[in-house]
Amino acid sequence: MDREVIKLDYSKMKVPNHLAIIVDGNGRWATKQGLSRSDGHKEGFVNLMRVLKYAYSKDIKYVSAYLFSTENFKRSKVEVDFIMGLLTGKLDDILNFCHSEKIKAIFSGRRKNLSNKVISVIEKIEDETKDYENRVFNICFNYGGRAEIVDATRKITLDIDNGKLDINSLNEEIFSKYLYQDLPPVDLMIRTSGEQRLSNFMLWQCSYAEFYFPKVYFPDFNENEFDKAILEYTKRDRRFGGIDYENKSN
Ligand code: FPP
Repeated sequence: MDREVIKLDYSKMKVPNHLAIIVDGNGRWATKQGLSRSDGHKEGFVNLMRVLKYAYSKDIKYVSAYLFSTENFKRSKVEVDFIMGLLTGKLDDILNFCHSEKIKAIFSGRRKNLSNKVISVIEKIEDETKDYENRVFNICFNYGGRAEIVDATRKITLDIDNGKLDINSLNEEIFSKYLYQDLPPVDLMIRTSGEQRLSNFMLWQCSYAEFYFPKVYFPDFNENEFDKAILEYTKRDRRFGGIDYENKSN
């Protein structure tokens, strides 16, 4: 692990408005120390709360986290049940955390294939935190980026069919409103564990995101690793398809 310790003065920095995290490496973190994969997810959950607390304290407004993909159902029943059980079993912890940090928690993903118990927990978390405005935590659960685009297209087609939407008015801004959640674009996407893939995560929202791939497993992604990610982000030259005339050399 790169143990370089850095000190950032956040008051002078432009932080991302929307940070997205692919939580990766819980399993490898656990296996490396002789623990079960479930122990890795348990530790991942604890670290997720730490990372969120730190991110919001640095004035990041939106955080999206990929906690369960539509493809994760291919894992063993034991592991799938464990992750589902983490969500339902940690309901009180999640609610206490959201209330103490004033976080609005929302979910992105398909409800199909989720148990009634999981769905009722999702609805309870969304309902109890819906009045918070300044900090948003988007939990991508049973989420797939392609599925999200297909689901949005279905809703759009229905609205065109029933006369609620004129096909000629459809543009990117309107399309975005049909996604699971109406969120600003992702500015920085972090995937821990060293893997350099998007794995079907927020395909639409990450169009112009900066990507950062720290080598540490998620349970080791601590405040210092977070600072390194933000420092790297501030060095990136974001042109959104245009040209940076101030730095143009030819
Ligand atoms: C991917 O890494 C991680 C997951 C599929 C699960 C992430 C889940 C949590 C952080 C806890 C769940 C929290 C809630 C609120 C439900 P991996 O474990 O597949 O890593 P590996 O590639 O090393 O196996």
